[in-house]
Amino acid sequence: TSVIPIGGADMPVVISLLNSYSGIAAAAAGFIILNNVLIVAGSLVGASGIILTQIMCKAMNRSLANVLFSGFGSGAGSSKKSAGYKGEAKAISAEDTYLMLEAARSVVIVPGYGMAVAQAQHAVRELGELLQANGCEVRYAIHPVAGRMPGHMNVLLAEANVPYEQLAEPQDVNPVMGTVDVAMVIGANDVVNPAAREDKSSPIYGMPVINVDQAKTVIILKRSMASGFAGIDNPLFFKDNARMLFGDAKATVSALVSEFKSG
Ligand code: TAP
Repeated sequence: TSVIPIGGADMPVVISLLNSYSGIAAAAAGFIILNNVLIVAGSLVGASGIILTQIMCKAMNRSLANVLFSGFGSGAGSSKKSAGYKGEAKAISAEDTYLMLEAARSVVIVPGYGMAVAQAQHAVRELGELLQANGCEVRYAIHPVAGRMPGHMNVLLAEANVPYEQLAEPQDVNPVMGTVDVAMVIGANDVVNPAAREDKSSPIYGMPVINVDQAKTVIILKRSMASGFAGIDNPLFFKDNARMLFGDAKATVSALVSEFKSG
């Protein structure tokens, strides 16, 4: 019954917690039947599950009690989803995005779940290399809960051979975001939602996010205006300095790569 009020966005935290319980139960069973292997293995599973639970809670700036009892992302939270952010989202073409990137001296790439869906990581790495060859500083800012599992983005970028030194944490890039020419959001949504800073009524208010809205220009690559995992609207799309590059991330990033190669 303890999982009934859990909202979608909190489910991974709860799964991790239940996983850790299973380890604790195994360790307890180990004590009863005096089996050392069971005690040691159970303790490891129990302890790692608790640590993972804590990391995820910290990334969302919420306590475990709040996760278990507040029903975030469920009915109560979602009813606030249309906060009615006003304005017009401005679309941009791949050609115009290329012109902006071509002129940029510093670019921060923020990958999210959509990059994984599109399997765009190789195209993204290629774009990063072309930008660097063009004299631009490139960093990849990875939010701890971007994607659908811990380390999701790190694994994908490592698989695509993105140099480790180019990876950055939100606390590294946020203080200097004002100096970044272009922030490229590739299939991320909740982890760049400025409502977490600006809108006290938002269910994600207080969660640390990557402040891409503070870059000189932010380009958001996604297929539509749809919301992300938490099911809430994102005022980022309506900011004056924001442009939407619509399409599957692999197709749009590949189009940018072709523009660079032919341009
Ligand atoms: P989300 O907020 O889920 O947003 C992903 C966005 O990707 C969607 O808005 C979607 O928009 C876009 N997208 C989907 N397929 C795409 C494609 N083929 N090409 C381009 N864009 C595509 O992702 P996020 O910012 O990474 O945040 C993660 C969320 O998951 C958080 O709410 C987090 O709490 C939750 N969560 C995290 C974990 C861990 S531990 N990482 C585990 C479970 C849940 P369109 O449909 O418009 O394309």
